[in-house]
Amino acid sequence: MGFGILILKLVLEPILGYSMGPWATTYKLSVLSSSDFHTSQRMSRLARYSFWALQLRKLHSSHIATLSFPSSFSTSASQSTATRPSPPPIHVGLTEYAGRGVFASRRISAGELIHTAQPIVSHPSLSSVHTVCYFCLRKLPSSARSLEASQTVSFCSTQCEDQSKFYDVEKKADWSRFNEYCRLQGLKYPLLVKRLACQVISGVVSSDVLDILQPEIPSSDRISKMKKEVALLNNTFEGSDIGSEQMAFLTEEWYAGVLARIRINAFRIELAIGSYEDLLSLAAASVEAEAAVGNAVYVLPSLYNHDCDPNVNIVWIENVDAKVKALRDIEEGEELRICYIDASMDYKARQTILYEGFGFHCNCLRCASKD
Ligand SMILES: *[C@@H]1O[C@H](CO)[C@@H](O)[C@H](O)[C@H]1NC(C)=O
Repeated sequence: MGFGILILKLVLEPILGYSMGPWATTYKLSVLSSSDFHTSQRMSRLARYSFWALQLRKLHSSHIATLSFPSSFSTSASQSTATRPSPPPIHVGLTEYAGRGVFASRRISAGELIHTAQPIVSHPSLSSVHTVCYFCLRKLPSSARSLEASQTVSFCSTQCEDQSKFYDVEKKADWSRFNEYCRLQGLKYPLLVKRLACQVISGVVSSDVLDILQPEIPSSDRISKMKKEVALLNNTFEGSDIGSEQMAFLTEEWYAGVLARIRINAFRIELAIGSYEDLLSLAAASVEAEAAVGNAVYVLPSLYNHDCDPNVNIVWIENVDAKVKALRDIEEGEELRICYIDASMDYKARQTILYEGFGFHCNCLRCASKD
């Protein structure tokens, strides 16, 4: 197994939630010409090509690696997966307009669950901290909740607790000032940085785990706020017994880089009411959901481009695991796109929000018709 392939495997396995198996037999690593890549660089910031740019560097070659999943697998065949789940019917490749994107590697039917993805980092919103699992954001039963009216956090299961190595680190420090600052300022992303920092210190992820995502270009007023946040985070850790060598990664540069990626790539988690089957019966793109329970960052879901009339959407049924669902029948080779914003807004409002929030002008078919 080559080094580049190993990197892809390491990056994608945790996201896809299953082992990819022997690459030589199951996967092919196809290569696109680098001129395609340079053409795409002129495209929107949202064209998060940095993922492939990173692979490019790691592969030490002038080509971009793209991942193809075999088209004969079906993710819906859950009965026959005693061995391991099948790879999703998608591949990541280059679009003509916006760098990389996600494509169907076979025909996909309306309502099909295309894949699920586990977050790299997630955190409940401060208002939900005592009512949801501190790891997976699942709603805690109300009996457990009333016991937790105080200051502690809870996990919904021993599995979630076992996977929360970050919490062993977090417990060592007093977060009251940090949390209070976030609460007063109405900040949610520093909580994700805090969680990530604890994950890094506990050794479950490396400090550059988010580098594969496209960053936002930071504005100058954000930089001064950011300095305050990083000092607060640093002081909080300084007050614990965590060794300084374990905290060496925690620099202003690291904080800025991580925050810039979180700002563009974080999903707001709204748990849908009902089961996946209920959702299938709803033809609409939007599903009824309760208020946001938290925020999370994923890799694969961040590779989807935007469309104001999307053919897939992402739903959260019971916890933070993202479920990517087909909204209509999709042909093999078609690009899969999600809607980054509230699709019910009119043309002008959508254009403004997409430009201000994501830095691109939308040219989707719906926008072309000024709908
Ligand atoms: C964190 O605090 C230590 C000790 O006060 C200091 O030496 C270090 O420069 C600080 N790091 C950042 C990123 O502020």
